[in-house]
Amino acid sequence: MSIHVLSVCGSSSKDSRTRRILEIAAAGARAAGAEIDFLDLRETALPIMDPDSATQKADPTVKRVLETAAWAQGFLIATPEYHGNLSGALKNWFDFLYPELAGKVAGVVASTGGGGGEMSIVSAKNSFNWCHGFTLPFHVAARGADWEGETLRDEKIVDRLGRLGRDVVRYTQAIAPAWEAAKKEGKGPESGFAGFHT
Ligand SMILES: Cc1cc2nc3c(=O)[nH]c(=O)nc-3n(C[C@H](O)[C@H](O)[C@H](O)COP(=O)(O)O)c2cc1C
Repeated sequence: MSIHVLSVCGSSSKDSRTRRILEIAAAGARAAGAEIDFLDLRETALPIMDPDSATQKADPTVKRVLETAAWAQGFLIATPEYHGNLSGALKNWFDFLYPELAGKVAGVVASTGGGGGEMSIVSAKNSFNWCHGFTLPFHVAARGADWEGETLRDEKIVDRLGRLGRDVVRYTQAIAPAWEAAKKEGKGPESGFAGFHT
């Protein structure tokens, strides 16, 4: 059975470079046998998460966010670097989620103006880790200078994006069975942190 990979684009731009690098990484995951779905937060018009709302979970957009995250076994997460951070739209997506990400694997990519992408990548990884998800130690950033118009001119970055997509599939296949086996051990300490998600 194919691994399900959700590709999440955290950019709010129409002609988004973040979306372009995400598509290259997703092509790598597809080549490794994954079934891919895209969640583009520009098109998704997610409300700001309201923990006091009794009705927000019935909002069709919120339902889609919860259902697509639950469907996914692995994630490709793409953020533009905004003020040395992940985008607000992406952070808001995270704020709706927790059990849907636990025990799953994510690869993170970033599009930046001039920065190296470390801060947006680390902040996106932190959010995923704090939801008890596993993030790959590899990541990819593309800076403004790496583009020729709308084409990435640096083949090394294109190569890294494809490898990252493939690795999401590879390491999801390794971690998902371990997490599911741990959950079967119940809530006791022998199940580790997976026991908190049974
Ligand atoms: C509000 C805002 C803040 C930004 N902050 C940074 C930043 O801190 N570092 C950086 O390198 N680029 C920064 N940029 C540039 C974007 O990261 C860059 O243009 C990126 O490619 C945008 O992705 P997009 O094409 O998907 O919109 C910022 C852009 C905006 C609009």
